[in-house]
Amino acid sequence: MALDLGMAQISQMAFGYWQAQALFAAVRTGVFDALAGGSLTVEKAAAACALPEDSALRLLDACVALRLLTRSADGEYANTPHAQRLLTEGSAESVTRWVKVMARWYEPWGGVTQALQDGQPVEERRLRLGDDEEYAADFILGMHEYNSRSATALAQLIPQQGAGTLVDVGGGAGTYSIAFCGQWPGLTGEVIDLPAVLPLTERTVARAGLADRIRVRAGDYYTDRFGSGVDVVLLSNVLHQESPEAALDILRRAREALSESGRVLVHGHFLDETRTAPLFTTLHNLSALALWDGGRSYTVAEMVELMRRAGLTDVEVVQAPEASAKLLVGTVGTVGSVGTPPGADGSHERA
Ligand SMILES: C[S@@+](CC[C@H](N)C(=O)[O-])C[C@H]1O[C@@H](n2cnc3c(N)ncnc32)[C@H](O)[C@@H]1O
Repeated sequence: MALDLGMAQISQMAFGYWQAQALFAAVRTGVFDALAGGSLTVEKAAAACALPEDSALRLLDACVALRLLTRSADGEYANTPHAQRLLTEGSAESVTRWVKVMARWYEPWGGVTQALQDGQPVEERRLRLGDDEEYAADFILGMHEYNSRSATALAQLIPQQGAGTLVDVGGGAGTYSIAFCGQWPGLTGEVIDLPAVLPLTERTVARAGLADRIRVRAGDYYTDRFGSGVDVVLLSNVLHQESPEAALDILRRAREALSESGRVLVHGHFLDETRTAPLFTTLHNLSALALWDGGRSYTVAEMVELMRRAGLTDVEVVQAPEASAKLLVGTVGTVGSVGTPPGADGSHERA
């Protein structure tokens, strides 16, 4: 009997985590790496993944159903091209670290009801910001795996306008500094982040061959100044971690660091003015509650208002490569404006 539409939709949501857990189990037990060199029988895959044969059979079959593996007529399992490219550690396009972070976030997400009732996170941020070294490395490098896919496209969205210096506040692995330096000739970058993060940043920057153009600085974005005479201050995927008060304070120091014609770039996932879309950002808002004390998703208008209060008199809103993300370009005066008349909130829109 076919389920009615409403029940089908609800069961898809309620069963949704079964798929996620099968993916996490396969990554955590090394299924895709075991098959990276070629197809294997269940016996050999079970041995390679240190699983009882019956468990391996269940997991491998589920992965076939999820279209992560194929099974041949003689019963050998192999990675699909997507799994080989994205889920094996040796692949240049691997996102296994990012998947492991999502697997780890299953726990705080499991506490989201508690977080909602208490209005408090269920996991302390210090764990993923250095206290647990392995978690911090997975968090920072996992974000790099995920964000580096769209970073170059983001850097291509706005013109260099003669910018020679970029300060990347909370820059993590340096993903966006690397992308901007790759796009803008002669640009030099500085990544400001917590001391535990910077060895990872240095590694990523060196791998990108940009150690001579991107340096790192240990700093605390709650208290530190971000420099002076800077052409671009970038805040990418940072402000959703913070309350409006903290975000405003960070934006004020970003504004203070600018050269006369400088720009503050705020990049991240935003809610539209209904607050009910995009779906990803409405869920990101729950994630921010569970994971970041004070964190929240902002509407574009809320962020534009914070930027204006920080002294950025002109804000251009640009659609970022990810559907739920925007790039807000704040300037003092009309530098960087696309020349369109401002909307009710004073911002300019560019699709
Ligand atoms: C979600 S990540 C974004 C990383 C990077 N900007 C990107 O878009 O990929 C947030 C970053 O903020 C950094 N961070 C958190 N608290 C900080 C603080 N008090 N001072 C400086 N950086 C901080 C974290 O270490 C992390 O690298």
